[in-house]
Amino acid sequence: MKEINLTAKMRVYNWNELSEEQRAVIEIAKEQTERSYCPYSQFHVGAAAKLANGVIMRGANQENAAYPSGLCAERVALFAAGAQYPDQPVTKLAIACFTDGHFTAEPGAPCGACRQVMLETEHRYGGKMEVLLYGENGTYVFDSAADLLPLIFVKENLLG
Ligand code: THU
Repeated sequence: MKEINLTAKMRVYNWNELSEEQRAVIEIAKEQTERSYCPYSQFHVGAAAKLANGVIMRGANQENAAYPSGLCAERVALFAAGAQYPDQPVTKLAIACFTDGHFTAEPGAPCGACRQVMLETEHRYGGKMEVLLYGENGTYVFDSAADLLPLIFVKENLLG
């Protein structure tokens, strides 16, 4: 038996420590919380995916009376990017959560399915996608989606 520690690296930034580019993507994720369709959870999530060509794709969570038919904000943005700009790498993905009349103090943590989709996006284009999780108390910055999901499952795993 051997024990292996899987680690994930992130940094926490104050608003004024972020770059102008990071702030601009986060601002759109925040704005997108207003476009969330969340009558069941009242938890508004906004996402913004910046592409290599500078375009920013927008997402917001879309809920459904048949609960599992809904989709998280991150996947709405990433799938829209893939569908409209299939040849453009995603360089940054920002997420913001709003509930009870305010943005959450701590960032929302993306669900497992969204992390898996983020990874596929990163691998598909062969570069890193920076992930920015906004919270009123600070923004968590991950240099790569892979930092959010150690022990990844990607297409190479299908080869056995
Ligand atoms: N949600 C997201 O959109 N992204 C996340 O990272 C976490 C959860 C949504 C799904 C659902 O509409 C609501 O938040 C409550 O779970």
